[in-house]
Amino acid sequence: MPIVSGSSAKGLAADLANQLSWQHVQMEARRFPDGEGYVRVPEGFIDSLREQDVVVVSNTFPDSGIVETLLLLEAISDVRAGRLDSLKGGKAEQSDVGPGLYLAIPYFGYSRQDKRFQKGEAISAKALGRIFANHCDGIIVLDLHAPEALQDLSIPVAFVSAMPEVAEHLQSTVKPDFILSPDKGAIERASAVAEAIGCRFSYLEKVRIDAHTIVHQPKDLDVDGSVVAIVDDMISTGGTICKASDALQNQGAAEVHAACTHGLFTGGAISRLDKHVDGVHASNSLANPRSSISGGPALARGVRTLLNL
Ligand code: R5P
Repeated sequence: MPIVSGSSAKGLAADLANQLSWQHVQMEARRFPDGEGYVRVPEGFIDSLREQDVVVVSNTFPDSGIVETLLLLEAISDVRAGRLDSLKGGKAEQSDVGPGLYLAIPYFGYSRQDKRFQKGEAISAKALGRIFANHCDGIIVLDLHAPEALQDLSIPVAFVSAMPEVAEHLQSTVKPDFILSPDKGAIERASAVAEAIGCRFSYLEKVRIDAHTIVHQPKDLDVDGSVVAIVDDMISTGGTICKASDALQNQGAAEVHAACTHGLFTGGAISRLDKHVDGVHASNSLANPRSSISGGPALARGVRTLLNL
């Protein structure tokens, strides 16, 4: 079966294809001088995208990724439905091959706006989920911040996590003896890592004041002399990790590492993190300078679940 990528997540799409021993198809994807996107199914792949089910791997981040994802799905469904009307030079007859177009989203942009925090807001994660659901037959999403946001879509969704691979990577590199969740929201993911490694676990309570300011409630952690890894779904500005690391170091931690699935690393996050932690470990869901864990095995689990393989 073909695993298709556009301009984002090419490496991860190749990893996924490799995991499943399927073909990796690279779409033509470029930008016009004004920044608008263009995608095209290469002529030589039209038949294979019609003959079998297709999985498109595409990030919906940044905003240009949302448009590109929609264009990829549209171009492939046109090809699969034989919609060649308006094609310059005449109309070719092709049958509709039916459903079988799936979308794997390594990093789902807008996932943190998963509810209405204030009156008058859009639930952005839900809004995007509904749009994608109208363009494919199923979605696989990696470490979605709040899965509830996509739970009532009209198509099946497979929620997968890279935490088994995060645990494996941490165990083979830093050998942590304590895993910390920096807030209540990451407890499930971080405790799964602690369980896989077989080490101690705790969490902090975080209050976000604004996008740049967070406060952790003081808590006694038994980390004296320990190698600690803070595990979260994503690192954006690095503020959450830096604050949690300071708390750990004040309580005697020997080494502090940060691990996440999604390394957004915005606004100088890497240099900020380098001053507060001994190492940063992220997956390749987004291209980033600390990518050391493949999201391919997790996406492969999702494809198998969704397609009943
Ligand atoms: C929020 O709850 C997320 O799980 C992350 O903790 C948060 O997005 C990290 O953001 P930052 O790195 O900017 O503190």
